[in-house]
Amino acid sequence: MDARNMKVKAAEAALAYVEDGMRLGIGTGSTAEEFVRLLAEKVHGGLRIVGVPTSERTARLCLELGVPMNSLDELPELDLTIDGADEVDTNLTLVKGGGGALLREKIVAAASNRMIVIADESKLVDMIGGFPLPIEVNPFGRKATRIAIEKAASGLGLAGDLTLRTSGEDVFTTDGGHYIFDASFGRIPDAEALAGELNSIPGVVEHGLFIHMASFAIIAGEAGARTLKA
Ligand code: 5RP
Repeated sequence: MDARNMKVKAAEAALAYVEDGMRLGIGTGSTAEEFVRLLAEKVHGGLRIVGVPTSERTARLCLELGVPMNSLDELPELDLTIDGADEVDTNLTLVKGGGGALLREKIVAAASNRMIVIADESKLVDMIGGFPLPIEVNPFGRKATRIAIEKAASGLGLAGDLTLRTSGEDVFTTDGGHYIFDASFGRIPDAEALAGELNSIPGVVEHGLFIHMASFAIIAGEAGARTLKA
């Protein structure tokens, strides 16, 4: 089974948790997009849901496929969010933000009763950090913020490059108008400590560590989809 088929399998399994009438947070990325395609088929078959997309990219796909949407301001409490991840460990600590949508993804997940992560098995790791950690920063003072992040990481014994994300010739800008540093710290033994340090830096808008947010993960591999609980 190739990676795309595994993403479809994970998305299919997640669809079983979607019930009529739900207010649904809808994630960003290639796995979440497989979910949107399957969800659209169900909607056309009569399922009534309202989706709150976590990015402009997801909103465009929902619009194209006819998935009903509303804003988080109109629907501030959601039943369920389904989203992908860049890394998932066995405690359900996630690294997210590879697609640049981490801020809205975290806001939407936090407004949801439950969050289900969907991923192919390549995302499952014994310790997070192999995937560079996305850190969303305010453009103002980004060099000072970079230094503050490096100092905070170093205090935890973490070192590595922070790369300002680009898109072609330009600096990548998130839906919220911020920049992203991708931090190659390597293995992160204490994600909670790092999250605490990053949260205390004024120029950091949000980071891609999602801790105690996922209710469970659906991981798809050659043998099919399985549920991973913390
Ligand atoms: C976007 C995300 C995505 O969920 C993450 O990057 C996984 O994407 P994909 O399903 O394409 O591998 O966090 O900000």
